[in-house]
Amino acid sequence: MSQKQDQWTSKLGFILAAAGSAIGLGAIWKLPYVAGTSGGGAFFLIFLLFTIFLGLPLLLTEFTIGRKTQHEAVTAYRMLAPGTFWHWIGKLGVATSFFLLSFYSVVGGWIVVYFARSITEGIGGRGAEEFEQLFGQTISSPVLAISAHLIFMLMTILVVQGGVQKGIERVSKLMMPALFILFIIIVIRSVTLPGAMEGVEFFLLPDFSSVTGQTVLYALGQAFFSLSLGVSIMVTYSSYLKSNESLPRSAVSIVGLTIFISILAGLAIFPAVFSFGLEPAEGPPLIFIVLPTVFSEIPLGGVFFVAFMALLLFATLTSAFSLLEMVVASVTKNDPAKRKKAAWACGLLIFVMGIPSALSYGIMDDVLIFGMTFFDALDYLVSNIMLPLGALLIAIFAPLKIKKDDLYEEMQKGSAFKRSLFNLWYVLVKFVVPIAIVLAFLNTIIRGGV
Ligand code: PHE
Repeated sequence: MSQKQDQWTSKLGFILAAAGSAIGLGAIWKLPYVAGTSGGGAFFLIFLLFTIFLGLPLLLTEFTIGRKTQHEAVTAYRMLAPGTFWHWIGKLGVATSFFLLSFYSVVGGWIVVYFARSITEGIGGRGAEEFEQLFGQTISSPVLAISAHLIFMLMTILVVQGGVQKGIERVSKLMMPALFILFIIIVIRSVTLPGAMEGVEFFLLPDFSSVTGQTVLYALGQAFFSLSLGVSIMVTYSSYLKSNESLPRSAVSIVGLTIFISILAGLAIFPAVFSFGLEPAEGPPLIFIVLPTVFSEIPLGGVFFVAFMALLLFATLTSAFSLLEMVVASVTKNDPAKRKKAAWACGLLIFVMGIPSALSYGIMDDVLIFGMTFFDALDYLVSNIMLPLGALLIAIFAPLKIKKDDLYEEMQKGSAFKRSLFNLWYVLVKFVVPIAIVLAFLNTIIRGGV
Protein backbone atom coordinates (compact mmCIF):
# COMPACT_ATOMS: atom_id res chain seq x y z
CA MET A 1 0.00 0.00 0.00
CA SER A 2 2.93 2.33 0.53
CA GLN A 3 4.09 1.94 -3.06
CA LYS A 4 3.93 4.91 -5.37
CA GLN A 5 0.66 4.71 -7.21
CA ASP A 6 0.81 4.12 -10.96
CA GLN A 7 -0.78 7.12 -12.72
CA TRP A 8 -2.28 8.07 -16.03
CA THR A 9 0.08 10.36 -17.90
CA SER A 10 -2.61 12.70 -19.16
CA LYS A 11 -6.26 13.53 -18.85
CA LEU A 12 -6.87 12.32 -22.37
CA GLY A 13 -5.27 9.03 -21.45
CA PHE A 14 -7.64 8.59 -18.55
CA ILE A 15 -10.72 9.53 -20.56
CA LEU A 16 -9.74 7.21 -23.37
CA ALA A 17 -9.00 4.35 -21.02
CA ALA A 18 -12.25 4.84 -19.09
CA ALA A 19 -14.16 5.26 -22.35
CA GLY A 20 -12.28 2.21 -23.60
CA SER A 21 -13.60 0.25 -20.66
CA ALA A 22 -17.10 1.54 -21.24
CA ILE A 23 -17.22 1.17 -25.02
CA GLY A 24 -17.03 -2.43 -26.03
CA LEU A 25 -19.31 -5.34 -26.64
CA GLY A 26 -22.02 -3.67 -24.54
CA ALA A 27 -22.73 -0.90 -27.00
CA ILE A 28 -21.72 -2.67 -30.19
CA TRP A 29 -22.78 -6.29 -29.78
CA LYS A 30 -25.14 -6.52 -26.85
CA LEU A 31 -27.28 -3.43 -27.23
CA PRO A 32 -28.43 -4.24 -30.77
CA TYR A 33 -29.30 -7.83 -29.97
CA VAL A 34 -31.01 -7.09 -26.66
CA ALA A 35 -32.93 -4.24 -28.27
CA GLY A 36 -33.78 -6.62 -31.11
CA THR A 37 -35.25 -9.19 -28.74
CA SER A 38 -36.83 -6.77 -26.22
CA GLY A 39 -38.86 -4.21 -28.07
CA GLY A 40 -36.55 -2.13 -30.27
CA GLY A 41 -37.10 1.61 -29.85
CA ALA A 42 -38.92 1.39 -26.52
CA PHE A 43 -36.01 -0.54 -25.08
CA PHE A 44 -33.54 1.94 -26.48
CA LEU A 45 -35.40 4.92 -25.04
CA ILE A 46 -35.57 3.38 -21.55
CA PHE A 47 -31.89 2.51 -21.85
CA LEU A 48 -31.07 6.12 -22.74
CA LEU A 49 -33.03 7.51 -19.81
CA PHE A 50 -31.33 5.09 -17.42
CA THR A 51 -27.93 5.95 -18.86
CA ILE A 52 -28.42 9.67 -18.35
CA PHE A 53 -30.29 9.77 -15.05
CA LEU A 54 -28.82 6.76 -13.29
CA GLY A 55 -25.61 5.91 -15.15
CA LEU A 56 -24.09 9.37 -15.31
CA PRO A 57 -24.54 10.17 -11.59
CA LEU A 58 -23.23 6.74 -10.66
CA LEU A 59 -20.20 7.12 -12.88
CA LEU A 60 -19.41 10.38 -11.13
CA THR A 61 -19.85 8.61 -7.79
CA GLU A 62 -17.37 5.87 -8.68
CA PHE A 63 -14.90 8.47 -9.97
CA THR A 64 -15.16 10.45 -6.77
CA ILE A 65 -14.56 7.45 -4.54
CA GLY A 66 -11.51 6.38 -6.54
CA ARG A 67 -9.82 9.73 -6.93
CA LYS A 68 -10.47 10.72 -3.33
CA THR A 69 -8.84 7.60 -1.92
CA GLN A 70 -6.22 7.04 -4.65
CA HIS A 71 -6.55 3.33 -4.09
CA GLU A 72 -8.02 0.35 -5.88
CA ALA A 73 -11.61 -0.42 -5.02
CA VAL A 74 -11.44 -2.82 -2.07
CA THR A 75 -8.91 -0.63 -0.25
CA ALA A 76 -10.86 2.48 -1.19
CA TYR A 77 -14.05 1.31 0.53
CA ARG A 78 -11.99 0.13 3.50
CA MET A 79 -10.41 3.57 3.88
CA LEU A 80 -13.73 5.37 3.71
CA ALA A 81 -15.56 3.04 6.06
CA PRO A 82 -12.92 1.32 8.21
CA GLY A 83 -13.97 -1.71 10.19
CA THR A 84 -17.26 -2.17 8.34
CA PHE A 85 -18.55 -4.63 5.79
CA TRP A 86 -18.67 -1.98 3.03
CA HIS A 87 -15.44 -3.14 1.40
CA TRP A 88 -17.48 -6.12 0.23
CA ILE A 89 -18.75 -3.82 -2.53
CA GLY A 90 -15.22 -3.99 -3.88
CA LYS A 91 -15.10 -7.74 -3.47
CA LEU A 92 -18.45 -8.10 -5.21
CA GLY A 93 -16.92 -6.03 -8.02
CA VAL A 94 -13.95 -8.37 -8.23
CA ALA A 95 -16.23 -11.41 -8.39
CA THR A 96 -18.43 -9.73 -10.99
CA SER A 97 -15.42 -8.84 -13.13
CA PHE A 98 -14.20 -12.40 -12.88
CA PHE A 99 -17.46 -13.90 -14.14
CA LEU A 100 -18.05 -11.18 -16.68
CA LEU A 101 -14.64 -11.50 -18.28
CA SER A 102 -15.03 -15.28 -18.51
CA PHE A 103 -17.85 -15.00 -21.08
CA TYR A 104 -16.80 -11.63 -22.49
CA SER A 105 -13.61 -13.28 -23.60
CA VAL A 106 -15.56 -15.97 -25.42
CA VAL A 107 -17.17 -13.30 -27.59
CA GLY A 108 -13.73 -11.71 -27.88
CA GLY A 109 -12.60 -15.06 -29.27
CA TRP A 110 -15.34 -15.01 -31.93
CA ILE A 111 -14.03 -11.64 -33.01
CA VAL A 112 -10.50 -13.02 -33.20
CA VAL A 113 -11.75 -15.76 -35.52
CA TYR A 114 -13.68 -13.30 -37.65
CA PHE A 115 -10.71 -11.01 -37.85
CA ALA A 116 -8.46 -13.83 -39.00
CA ARG A 117 -11.07 -15.01 -41.51
CA SER A 118 -11.63 -11.52 -42.84
CA ILE A 119 -7.97 -11.44 -43.77
CA THR A 120 -7.56 -14.94 -45.14
CA GLU A 121 -10.92 -15.46 -46.84
CA GLY A 122 -12.37 -12.01 -47.42
CA ILE A 123 -16.09 -11.50 -47.53
CA GLY A 124 -16.81 -11.13 -51.21
CA GLY A 125 -19.66 -12.98 -52.91
CA ARG A 126 -21.51 -14.16 -49.84
CA GLY A 127 -24.99 -13.34 -48.64
CA ALA A 128 -26.62 -13.16 -45.24
CA GLU A 129 -27.42 -16.87 -45.18
CA GLU A 130 -23.85 -17.88 -45.78
CA PHE A 131 -22.68 -15.60 -43.02
CA GLU A 132 -25.26 -17.16 -40.73
CA GLN A 133 -23.84 -20.59 -41.48
CA LEU A 134 -20.30 -19.40 -41.11
CA PHE A 135 -21.07 -17.99 -37.72
CA GLY A 136 -22.77 -21.19 -36.67
CA GLN A 137 -19.68 -23.17 -37.62
CA THR A 138 -17.39 -20.79 -35.79
CA ILE A 139 -19.14 -20.87 -32.45
CA SER A 140 -20.15 -24.49 -32.45
CA SER A 141 -16.69 -25.93 -32.95
CA PRO A 142 -15.31 -26.68 -29.45
CA VAL A 143 -11.69 -26.51 -30.51
CA LEU A 144 -12.09 -23.25 -32.37
CA ALA A 145 -14.20 -21.57 -29.68
CA ILE A 146 -11.87 -22.56 -26.86
CA SER A 147 -8.64 -21.72 -28.66
CA ALA A 148 -10.00 -18.36 -29.75
CA HIS A 149 -11.10 -17.65 -26.16
CA LEU A 150 -7.59 -18.56 -25.02
CA ILE A 151 -5.96 -16.26 -27.59
CA PHE A 152 -8.17 -13.39 -26.47
CA MET A 153 -7.33 -13.98 -22.80
CA LEU A 154 -3.60 -14.15 -23.58
CA MET A 155 -3.76 -10.77 -25.34
CA THR A 156 -5.53 -9.32 -22.32
CA ILE A 157 -2.99 -10.73 -19.90
CA LEU A 158 -0.05 -9.46 -21.93
CA VAL A 159 -1.27 -5.88 -21.75
CA VAL A 160 -2.45 -5.88 -18.15
CA GLN A 161 0.81 -7.33 -16.88
CA GLY A 162 2.49 -4.17 -18.24
CA GLY A 163 0.49 -1.86 -15.95
CA VAL A 164 -1.92 0.92 -16.69
CA GLN A 165 0.37 3.50 -18.23
CA LYS A 166 2.51 1.52 -20.53
CA GLY A 167 -0.16 -0.94 -21.50
CA ILE A 168 -3.65 0.40 -21.47
CA GLU A 169 -3.30 4.11 -22.07
CA ARG A 170 -0.99 4.07 -25.06
CA VAL A 171 -3.03 1.83 -27.32
CA SER A 172 -6.32 3.56 -26.53
CA LYS A 173 -5.26 6.90 -27.95
CA LEU A 174 -5.07 5.79 -31.53
CA MET A 175 -7.75 3.25 -31.92
CA MET A 176 -10.81 4.84 -30.33
CA PRO A 177 -11.05 7.69 -32.85
CA ALA A 178 -10.52 5.25 -35.71
CA LEU A 179 -13.41 3.14 -34.46
CA PHE A 180 -15.75 6.13 -34.55
CA ILE A 181 -14.80 7.04 -38.10
CA LEU A 182 -15.31 3.55 -39.44
CA PHE A 183 -18.62 3.24 -37.70
CA ILE A 184 -19.87 6.40 -39.37
CA ILE A 185 -19.01 4.94 -42.78
CA ILE A 186 -21.00 1.79 -41.99
CA VAL A 187 -23.99 3.80 -40.78
CA ILE A 188 -24.04 5.81 -44.00
CA ARG A 189 -24.11 2.61 -46.05
CA SER A 190 -26.64 0.91 -43.84
CA VAL A 191 -29.24 3.70 -43.78
CA THR A 192 -29.04 4.11 -47.55
CA LEU A 193 -29.82 0.44 -48.30
CA PRO A 194 -33.23 -0.21 -49.87
CA GLY A 195 -35.91 -0.61 -47.19
CA ALA A 196 -33.60 0.72 -44.50
CA MET A 197 -36.16 3.11 -43.03
CA GLU A 198 -38.09 0.27 -41.45
CA GLY A 199 -35.00 -0.54 -39.41
CA VAL A 200 -34.44 3.07 -38.43
CA GLU A 201 -38.04 3.18 -37.21
CA PHE A 202 -37.69 -0.09 -35.35
CA PHE A 203 -34.69 1.29 -33.52
CA LEU A 204 -35.80 4.88 -32.92
CA LEU A 205 -39.59 4.84 -32.71
CA PRO A 206 -40.66 3.46 -29.35
CA ASP A 207 -43.54 1.01 -29.28
CA PHE A 208 -44.43 0.66 -25.62
CA SER A 209 -46.83 -2.20 -26.13
CA SER A 210 -43.86 -4.56 -26.10
CA VAL A 211 -42.44 -3.32 -22.79
CA THR A 212 -42.51 -5.79 -19.88
CA GLY A 213 -40.88 -5.91 -16.45
CA GLN A 214 -38.07 -7.84 -18.06
CA THR A 215 -37.52 -5.06 -20.61
CA VAL A 216 -37.02 -2.52 -17.84
CA LEU A 217 -34.57 -4.71 -15.94
CA TYR A 218 -32.70 -5.55 -19.14
CA ALA A 219 -32.47 -1.85 -20.01
CA LEU A 220 -31.15 -1.10 -16.54
CA GLY A 221 -28.61 -3.92 -16.74
CA GLN A 222 -27.61 -2.73 -20.19
CA ALA A 223 -27.11 0.86 -18.99
CA PHE A 224 -24.77 -0.30 -16.23
CA PHE A 225 -23.04 -2.82 -18.47
CA SER A 226 -22.35 -0.23 -21.16
CA LEU A 227 -20.78 2.20 -18.73
CA SER A 228 -18.88 -0.49 -16.78
CA LEU A 229 -20.77 0.50 -13.63
CA GLY A 230 -21.53 -1.37 -10.45
CA VAL A 231 -18.24 -3.24 -10.60
CA SER A 232 -16.11 -0.46 -9.08
CA ILE A 233 -13.82 -0.56 -12.10
CA MET A 234 -14.29 3.17 -12.45
CA VAL A 235 -13.19 3.51 -8.81
CA THR A 236 -9.97 1.69 -9.56
CA TYR A 237 -9.37 3.57 -12.84
CA SER A 238 -9.95 7.00 -11.33
CA SER A 239 -7.62 6.18 -8.44
CA TYR A 240 -4.85 6.52 -11.02
CA LEU A 241 -5.98 10.06 -11.84
CA LYS A 242 -4.34 13.24 -10.65
CA SER A 243 -6.22 15.86 -8.67
CA ASN A 244 -6.20 18.59 -11.28
CA GLU A 245 -8.70 16.92 -13.59
CA SER A 246 -12.42 17.61 -13.41
CA LEU A 247 -14.42 14.51 -12.57
CA PRO A 248 -17.85 15.78 -13.70
CA ARG A 249 -16.46 16.76 -17.09
CA SER A 250 -14.78 13.40 -17.54
CA ALA A 251 -18.00 11.62 -16.61
CA VAL A 252 -20.04 13.62 -19.09
CA SER A 253 -17.54 12.95 -21.90
CA ILE A 254 -17.58 9.22 -21.26
CA VAL A 255 -21.36 8.99 -21.11
CA GLY A 256 -21.61 11.11 -24.26
CA LEU A 257 -19.18 8.89 -26.16
CA THR A 258 -20.94 5.73 -25.04
CA ILE A 259 -24.36 7.01 -26.08
CA PHE A 260 -22.96 8.16 -29.40
CA ILE A 261 -21.46 4.78 -30.22
CA SER A 262 -24.64 3.00 -29.08
CA ILE A 263 -26.68 5.06 -31.52
CA LEU A 264 -24.16 4.39 -34.28
CA ALA A 265 -24.31 0.68 -33.56
CA GLY A 266 -28.10 0.63 -33.72
CA LEU A 267 -28.12 2.65 -36.92
CA ALA A 268 -25.52 0.37 -38.44
CA ILE A 269 -27.35 -2.83 -37.60
CA PHE A 270 -31.13 -2.42 -37.77
CA PRO A 271 -31.53 -0.77 -41.17
CA ALA A 272 -29.43 -3.57 -42.62
CA VAL A 273 -31.37 -6.24 -40.73
CA PHE A 274 -34.62 -5.07 -42.31
CA SER A 275 -33.13 -4.41 -45.69
CA PHE A 276 -31.70 -7.94 -45.94
CA GLY A 277 -34.85 -9.51 -44.52
CA LEU A 278 -33.09 -10.82 -41.41
CA GLU A 279 -34.63 -11.31 -37.98
CA PRO A 280 -33.92 -8.53 -35.40
CA ALA A 281 -34.40 -11.05 -32.59
CA GLU A 282 -31.51 -13.17 -33.84
CA GLY A 283 -29.75 -12.88 -30.44
CA PRO A 284 -25.99 -12.94 -29.80
CA PRO A 285 -25.00 -13.76 -33.41
CA LEU A 286 -26.74 -10.63 -34.76
CA ILE A 287 -23.77 -8.39 -35.51
CA PHE A 288 -21.67 -11.26 -36.77
CA ILE A 289 -24.20 -11.95 -39.48
CA VAL A 290 -25.40 -8.45 -40.27
CA LEU A 291 -22.13 -6.55 -40.42
CA PRO A 292 -20.30 -8.74 -42.92
CA THR A 293 -23.41 -8.59 -45.08
CA VAL A 294 -23.40 -4.78 -44.98
CA PHE A 295 -19.70 -4.68 -45.78
CA SER A 296 -20.16 -6.95 -48.74
CA GLU A 297 -22.41 -4.18 -50.15
CA ILE A 298 -19.75 -1.49 -49.89
CA PRO A 299 -17.01 -0.86 -52.46
CA LEU A 300 -13.76 -2.06 -50.92
CA GLY A 301 -15.95 -3.76 -48.30
CA GLY A 302 -13.38 -6.47 -47.68
CA VAL A 303 -10.75 -3.94 -46.68
CA PHE A 304 -13.18 -2.04 -44.47
CA PHE A 305 -14.29 -5.26 -42.88
CA VAL A 306 -10.74 -6.17 -41.88
CA ALA A 307 -10.31 -2.71 -40.40
CA PHE A 308 -13.62 -2.88 -38.60
CA MET A 309 -12.88 -6.27 -37.08
CA ALA A 310 -9.49 -4.99 -35.90
CA LEU A 311 -11.16 -2.03 -34.21
CA LEU A 312 -13.95 -4.11 -32.73
CA LEU A 313 -11.32 -6.43 -31.36
CA PHE A 314 -9.55 -3.45 -29.92
CA ALA A 315 -12.72 -2.02 -28.32
CA THR A 316 -13.39 -5.40 -26.78
CA LEU A 317 -9.84 -5.71 -25.52
CA THR A 318 -9.86 -2.31 -23.78
CA SER A 319 -12.95 -3.40 -21.85
CA ALA A 320 -11.33 -6.72 -21.06
CA PHE A 321 -8.22 -4.93 -19.79
CA SER A 322 -10.34 -3.04 -17.27
CA LEU A 323 -12.02 -6.22 -16.09
CA LEU A 324 -8.73 -8.03 -15.59
CA GLU A 325 -7.17 -4.91 -14.08
CA MET A 326 -9.93 -4.84 -11.47
CA VAL A 327 -9.15 -8.40 -10.41
CA VAL A 328 -5.37 -7.95 -10.57
CA ALA A 329 -5.36 -4.64 -8.66
CA SER A 330 -7.34 -6.21 -5.85
CA VAL A 331 -4.77 -8.99 -5.55
CA THR A 332 -1.60 -6.90 -5.85
CA LYS A 333 -2.86 -3.85 -3.92
CA ASN A 334 -0.66 -1.68 -6.17
CA ASP A 335 2.51 -3.63 -5.48
CA PRO A 336 4.19 -3.63 -8.91
CA ALA A 337 6.35 -6.61 -8.01
CA LYS A 338 3.28 -8.85 -7.87
CA ARG A 339 1.56 -7.56 -11.00
CA LYS A 340 3.00 -9.92 -13.56
CA LYS A 341 2.32 -13.10 -11.65
CA ALA A 342 -1.12 -11.95 -10.61
CA ALA A 343 -2.07 -11.07 -14.19
CA TRP A 344 -1.14 -14.54 -15.41
CA ALA A 345 -2.71 -16.43 -12.51
CA CYS A 346 -6.01 -14.51 -12.58
CA GLY A 347 -6.15 -14.44 -16.37
CA LEU A 348 -5.69 -18.18 -16.72
CA LEU A 349 -8.27 -18.90 -14.03
CA ILE A 350 -10.74 -16.71 -15.89
CA PHE A 351 -9.94 -18.62 -19.06
CA VAL A 352 -10.86 -21.90 -17.34
CA MET A 353 -14.05 -20.39 -15.94
CA GLY A 354 -15.00 -19.36 -19.49
CA ILE A 355 -14.71 -22.83 -21.03
CA PRO A 356 -18.35 -23.86 -20.39
CA SER A 357 -19.47 -20.55 -21.93
CA ALA A 358 -17.30 -21.22 -24.95
CA LEU A 359 -19.03 -24.58 -25.35
CA SER A 360 -22.53 -23.18 -24.86
CA TYR A 361 -23.22 -22.87 -28.56
CA GLY A 362 -21.72 -26.22 -29.37
CA ILE A 363 -21.54 -29.44 -27.40
CA MET A 364 -23.09 -27.87 -24.29
CA ASP A 365 -26.05 -26.21 -25.97
CA ASP A 366 -28.45 -28.60 -24.31
CA VAL A 367 -27.13 -27.95 -20.78
CA LEU A 368 -29.65 -25.45 -19.49
CA ILE A 369 -29.72 -23.48 -16.25
CA PHE A 370 -33.15 -21.92 -15.58
CA GLY A 371 -33.87 -22.57 -19.23
CA MET A 372 -30.76 -20.72 -20.41
CA THR A 373 -27.45 -21.94 -21.75
CA PHE A 374 -24.47 -21.58 -19.41
CA PHE A 375 -23.34 -18.54 -21.38
CA ASP A 376 -26.74 -16.83 -21.19
CA ALA A 377 -27.25 -17.73 -17.54
CA LEU A 378 -23.91 -16.24 -16.57
CA ASP A 379 -24.65 -13.12 -18.60
CA TYR A 380 -28.06 -12.86 -16.92
CA LEU A 381 -26.53 -13.25 -13.45
CA VAL A 382 -23.88 -10.62 -14.12
CA SER A 383 -25.84 -8.06 -16.13
CA ASN A 384 -29.23 -8.22 -14.49
CA ILE A 385 -28.37 -9.11 -10.91
CA MET A 386 -24.74 -8.45 -9.94
CA LEU A 387 -24.26 -5.14 -11.79
CA PRO A 388 -27.50 -3.52 -10.55
CA LEU A 389 -26.81 -4.84 -7.04
CA GLY A 390 -23.29 -3.39 -7.06
CA ALA A 391 -24.66 -0.10 -8.37
CA LEU A 392 -27.32 -0.04 -5.64
CA LEU A 393 -24.72 -0.57 -2.92
CA ILE A 394 -22.43 2.13 -4.31
CA ALA A 395 -25.34 4.60 -4.46
CA ILE A 396 -26.18 3.85 -0.84
CA PHE A 397 -22.55 3.94 0.26
CA ALA A 398 -21.38 7.29 -1.07
CA PRO A 399 -23.89 9.67 0.55
CA LEU A 400 -23.89 7.59 3.73
CA LYS A 401 -20.18 7.23 4.33
CA ILE A 402 -18.64 10.33 2.75
CA LYS A 403 -19.46 13.81 4.04
CA LYS A 404 -21.43 15.94 1.63
CA ASP A 405 -18.79 18.68 1.72
CA ASP A 406 -16.01 16.21 1.02
CA LEU A 407 -17.87 14.90 -1.98
CA TYR A 408 -18.38 18.40 -3.28
CA GLU A 409 -14.76 19.30 -2.72
CA GLU A 410 -13.55 16.30 -4.70
CA MET A 411 -15.87 17.11 -7.62
CA GLN A 412 -14.74 20.73 -7.59
CA LYS A 413 -11.10 19.88 -8.19
CA GLY A 414 -9.89 20.70 -11.67
CA SER A 415 -12.76 23.00 -12.57
CA ALA A 416 -15.74 24.62 -10.84
CA PHE A 417 -18.82 22.46 -10.45
CA LYS A 418 -22.04 24.38 -9.80
CA ARG A 419 -23.62 23.78 -6.42
CA SER A 420 -27.01 23.31 -8.04
CA LEU A 421 -25.66 20.53 -10.26
CA PHE A 422 -23.99 18.96 -7.28
CA ASN A 423 -27.30 19.02 -5.42
CA LEU A 424 -29.00 17.40 -8.39
CA TRP A 425 -26.34 14.69 -8.42
CA TYR A 426 -26.84 14.17 -4.70
CA VAL A 427 -30.60 13.73 -4.98
CA LEU A 428 -30.23 11.39 -7.94
CA VAL A 429 -27.69 9.17 -6.21
CA LYS A 430 -29.24 9.20 -2.78
CA PHE A 431 -32.87 8.69 -3.79
CA VAL A 432 -33.57 8.18 -7.46
CA VAL A 433 -30.90 5.56 -8.25
CA PRO A 434 -31.65 3.24 -5.30
CA ILE A 435 -35.40 3.51 -5.74
CA ALA A 436 -35.19 2.86 -9.47
CA ILE A 437 -33.01 -0.20 -9.01
CA VAL A 438 -35.20 -1.65 -6.27
CA LEU A 439 -38.32 -1.02 -8.35
CA ALA A 440 -36.78 -2.67 -11.39
CA PHE A 441 -35.95 -5.74 -9.30
CA LEU A 442 -39.39 -5.86 -7.68
CA ASN A 443 -41.12 -5.35 -10.97
CA THR A 444 -39.36 -8.32 -12.48
CA ILE A 445 -39.96 -10.54 -9.46
CA ILE A 446 -43.64 -9.64 -9.19
CA ARG A 447 -44.25 -10.15 -12.88
CA GLY A 448 -42.43 -13.42 -12.59
CA GLY A 449 -39.62 -12.46 -14.92
CA VAL A 450 -36.50 -13.60 -13.06
N1 PHE B 1 -18.62 -1.70 -20.59
C1 PHE B 1 -18.11 -2.87 -21.21
C2 PHE B 1 -18.79 -3.01 -22.55
O1 PHE B 1 -19.75 -2.37 -22.84
C3 PHE B 1 -18.32 -4.10 -20.40
C4 PHE B 1 -17.93 -3.96 -19.00
C5 PHE B 1 -18.87 -4.04 -18.01
C6 PHE B 1 -16.60 -3.73 -18.68
C7 PHE B 1 -18.54 -3.87 -16.69
C8 PHE B 1 -16.24 -3.57 -17.38
C9 PHE B 1 -17.22 -3.66 -16.39
O2 PHE B 1 -18.40 -3.80 -23.34
